[in-house]
Amino acid sequence: MAEQVDLVIFGGTGDLSTRKLLPALYQLHRHGLADDLRRIVATGRAEKDRETFLSEAHANTRRFVPTEDWDSAVWESFCQHLHYHTLDAAEAPHYQSLGELLDTAAAPLRLFYLATLPALYGDICAHLQEAGCVSPQSRVVLEKPLGHDLTSCRDIHRRVGEVFPEEATFRIDHYLGKETVQNLLAVRFGNPLLQPLWNNSFVDNVQITVAESIGVEGRGDYYAHTGALRDMVQNHLLQVLSMVAMEPPSSLDPWAIRDEKVKVLRCLQPITAATIKACSVRGRYDAGAVDGQAVRGFLEEADFEQASNTETFVALRAHIDNWRWAGVPFYLRTGKRMSRRYSEIVIEFRRPPFSLFANDPNELSNKLVIRLQPEETISLHTLNKKPGLTRKLRLQPVELHLTEDAWQRDHSYDAYERLLLDAINGDQTLFMRGDEVETAWRWVDSIIAAWEETGQPVKPYNAGTMGPSAATALVAVDGRNWYE
Ligand SMILES: NC(=O)c1ccc[n+]([C@@H]2O[C@H](COP(=O)([O-])OP(=O)(O)OC[C@H]3O[C@@H](n4cnc5c(N)ncnc54)[C@H](OP(=O)(O)O)[C@@H]3O)[C@@H](O)[C@H]2O)c1
Repeated sequence: MAEQVDLVIFGGTGDLSTRKLLPALYQLHRHGLADDLRRIVATGRAEKDRETFLSEAHANTRRFVPTEDWDSAVWESFCQHLHYHTLDAAEAPHYQSLGELLDTAAAPLRLFYLATLPALYGDICAHLQEAGCVSPQSRVVLEKPLGHDLTSCRDIHRRVGEVFPEEATFRIDHYLGKETVQNLLAVRFGNPLLQPLWNNSFVDNVQITVAESIGVEGRGDYYAHTGALRDMVQNHLLQVLSMVAMEPPSSLDPWAIRDEKVKVLRCLQPITAATIKACSVRGRYDAGAVDGQAVRGFLEEADFEQASNTETFVALRAHIDNWRWAGVPFYLRTGKRMSRRYSEIVIEFRRPPFSLFANDPNELSNKLVIRLQPEETISLHTLNKKPGLTRKLRLQPVELHLTEDAWQRDHSYDAYERLLLDAINGDQTLFMRGDEVETAWRWVDSIIAAWEETGQPVKPYNAGTMGPSAATALVAVDGRNWYE
């Protein structure tokens, strides 16, 4: 890190700051990775003095940092950097006083982290500029959601862009901060043996699953206006898809990588009213049981009228119209209250053209399985002989683990640690560029328009299952199964 940095967090008292940002900053400090971070100024509307904020931050951070990582001496030195500033986003004088605070022993570089309501992003940036808080070295970090559709996303981009250029704008998708997503680049482009296989001649299908076991957790009314497609597919699943499907970039430069990602998003075949029924399934959880606990249905947790047409589960068959991927289905699915929490990418290779073995042909494929959570692992599923004296030769799957224990131990950091460090260092590789986000919205908007035009219903599923049976059928009609 070259220059001293002041970090200002808008929404510094919110859930994201409490659970993720302050614990991540504590961890960076503990590892000596944030030595040039001079001040962290958390903002919120409540009037409170620094001592009160520090005492709350101490209790919260201690809760969300693993016990074995907690060190009171580290906290004492960390909180020397921690400040609180009362700020209502709409109040211009509050930015003046923020500017005065920052001007005292000013750090050359300012990083403004917007972890608050996206509807406030435009005003916050404009007020910061009016108050003289923004210099050419300043940067802004934007949390999702970046709008509700393409129009609202463009509006945020326009207003933020009036103050911060693209090179200074860091749009977070915390999935990109996961080590396995970055390792995907290393595995794909560091191993020439995979290169000839990474295309429609050898890949049969790709599956991306982001399954959550939690429900809407008190965010029912927000979620009823959002749904799984906007909340998860528009960002996390399409980001992962673009990392899997991108062409080799010309270098590891952030612009080169993001150029290739956006090209994939542009090649997504639009889903229209004519194809929507065959290509998508919408679901909504009813009451059921997760981890042995009875749980309520979505309609009991949110405003009934709005929620009754909101999906808490979506499954899609997507196609990428380019030479590499033509004809290869990318199956995407995500949902709440599913049987277990996990996120996974499965690249299934084509089966042999003719089988010599006594197995069910469905068992005979090689797969590269990339697990993003709860654990981060990569394994290659190969086939070898089932041991024994039987006359007929049978195959059995054998997993080659491409991640070893030492690798797992060494990278056990939270995605927010990686992303905060990169934003402080000015590295945009793992942040979404504006055109990527807009292109993703364009594709998602076409699906929402097709749902509306055709009145596609939301199908119920029991909490604690993997979604409606129609999602199984979406893949089964192609002669395939979801990899579970
Ligand atoms: N929570 C997560 O896990 C998560 C994950 C990904 C993205 N996000 C995104 O991150 C952002 C924050 O989420 P959150 O869950 O932390 O929300 P939250 O718990 O509701 O916190 C909102 C924060 O914004 C502040 N705030 C609200 N209105 C304000 C105003 N008019 N002026 C100044 N500050 C204001 C609140 O401060 P006071 O109430 O103290 O004024 C609070 O610090 C949202 O965009 C969310 O979608 C959250």
